[in-house]
Parts: sequence; C-alpha cells; structure tokens
Amino acid sequence: MTEMNPDVLLQEWDESIVVLTIHRPDALNALNRSVFDALEVFFKKHKGNYDIKGVIITGAGSKAFVAGADIKEFSSLDAAMGSALSKRGQDVFFMIERFHAPVIAAVNGFALGGGCELAMSCHIRVAGQNAKFGQPEVNLGLVPGYGGSQRLIQLIGKGKATEMLLTADMINADEAFRLGLATHVVEPGAEVEKAKEIIRKIATKGPLAVEQSIQLVNAYFDKTVDGFVKEYEDFGLTIGSQDSKEGAAAFVEKRKPVFKAK
Ligand code: CAA
Repeated sequence: MTEMNPDVLLQEWDESIVVLTIHRPDALNALNRSVFDALEVFFKKHKGNYDIKGVIITGAGSKAFVAGADIKEFSSLDAAMGSALSKRGQDVFFMIERFHAPVIAAVNGFALGGGCELAMSCHIRVAGQNAKFGQPEVNLGLVPGYGGSQRLIQLIGKGKATEMLLTADMINADEAFRLGLATHVVEPGAEVEKAKEIIRKIATKGPLAVEQSIQLVNAYFDKTVDGFVKEYEDFGLTIGSQDSKEGAAAFVEKRKPVFKAK
C-alpha cells in the first residue's frame, strides 16, 4: 500500500515495516517545512504503535538521500526565526531518535547538511556505494541547525567531526563506514532491502527490550540522565514483563518466543 502524505513524504507499508520516501526530487529532496510537517505527523501518530517493527527513511531518485535543509527558505529569516526553525527541526529529529522501534536511514546518494543530520538521528545507517555525507553549512556562512554539530561528534569523534564541520568536505560511503557513520555499505539501489533485512531480524526480538535498548543508548548522550541508573530500572521493567517470561519459557521449551509487547 502506498499513500501520499501530503506528497512530499511517500509512505509504503510492507506488512509491519514502513518505508518513508522524502519526495522532492527537483530539489534533491531538500527538507522544507512541508517535509518536517509530514515527518512530525507520522512519528507522533505512530509513537508506541508496536505493530510497526521498523521504519526506513530514504530519498526519492538515485542521486540524493537529502541534500540539506531547503536553502531557498532561508533568505527571509532573521535570527529569532532562524533559531525557531532550527529548534523545530531538532524537535522532529528527537522524535525519530526516541521512536520505540528502529528507524534506519537508507542513504541513497547525497546526505548533506540537514540530510546528514536526518540520517544521524536515525538509529542505523545503511549507505549505498554512491552515498556522500557532509556538513557543508560553513559554505553558506552557517552552522548546522538540526543537531549535526552534536551527533557527528557522537558518531565519529571530535577530531574528524571538527574537520568535517570546518572544511565542509564530503566523505564517501567507504570512509563513512570506516568512521562508524554508516553501519553497512551496499550496492546502489540495495539500501532499502538491506534495511528491511535488519528490521526483520530485530522484529524477532522482544519489542519492549528493543525499545528500552534504544532509549538506553540515547541516555548515554543525555546529560540529564544517569545511564547506569536507567539501565537497572529498565532491566527491572523488562524482567517484570510478560515478554521476558515468554522469552525464558521459549528458551527452556526450545521453541521460538511469541512476544506481545506486554
Ligand atoms: N535546498 C534547496 N534546493 C536544493 C538544495 C538545497 N539544500 N540542494 C539542491 N537543490 C536544488 C538545486 O537548487 C537545483 O535546483 P534547480 O534545478 O531549480 O536549480 C537542484 O536541486 C539540483 O541541484 P544541483 O543543480 O545543484 O545539482 P548538482 O549535481 O550540480 O549538485 C549538490 C549537487 C552538490 C548536492 C548541490 O546541489 C549542493 O551543493 N546542494 C546544497 C547542499 C547544502 O549546502 N546543503 C546544506 C543546506 S543548509 C542546512 O542543511 C542547514 C541545516 O543544518 C539546518
């Protein structure tokens, strides 16, 4: 089933996997307000929907994942409007990062500026061999606005992140893999299928445990949370769940568990 939402974000449902395609091919899928609206609607609506086993985000066409924020929306912005736009973008990307099920970026070409930031807000990144990652905002006299200055350091470390932020240099898929920015590199066109394969594997696991694992990884980078405290709390939460009883029973009975997200 494919539906348009409103026409800049295509939704395709493959049973319990949703493929979201950012669809602005004439602008290399640049993120304008309509794309943010559509992403927000989707992630708000489906938060906590355990029937969804994973979401894949990709870009229309074979040239770009997302070539950045839509530069053509920038010319009329003053400082306050710019900060508001940036905060709104960050908020939507936090919704992705905090989603209960895995969100995988299938990076099928340029992932620049806001596009690299979108990919980094996803839990996993599968890059096509032709993918190019970069934070070219300094070329425009800007800094990243959708979390890139923080998540790039989280993913590849301070040294290389600083160099990428200051030079605006792009890196290719192999280098992104070497640095840990991409977790898989595949033939161009095979990104979504590889992402589905990863989601199908995760779909066999306990959904609450998957959710809490995502939140524990996020907790490591949240300066307001003690990740070790959250871990023992979440261990208690998961061990008290029906799913963990089912997991243990299935192990003893040598069968596959049937998890119910309870
Ligand atoms: N915003 C708006 N339109 C964009 C765009 C963007 N980020 N990126 C590409 N486009 C448009 C181009 O304007 C062009 O449209 P027209 O045909 O109407 O002129 C079309 O997409 C095709 O692009 P090019 O002709 O430039 O394609 P190319 O193959 O020559 O170059 C590219 C490809 C290197 C990706 C080049 O398009 C480019 O450098 N794009 C901008 C990348 C960028 O600077 N991204 C960061 C944006 S700022 C940001 O994201 C801030 C933030 O963190 C919040």
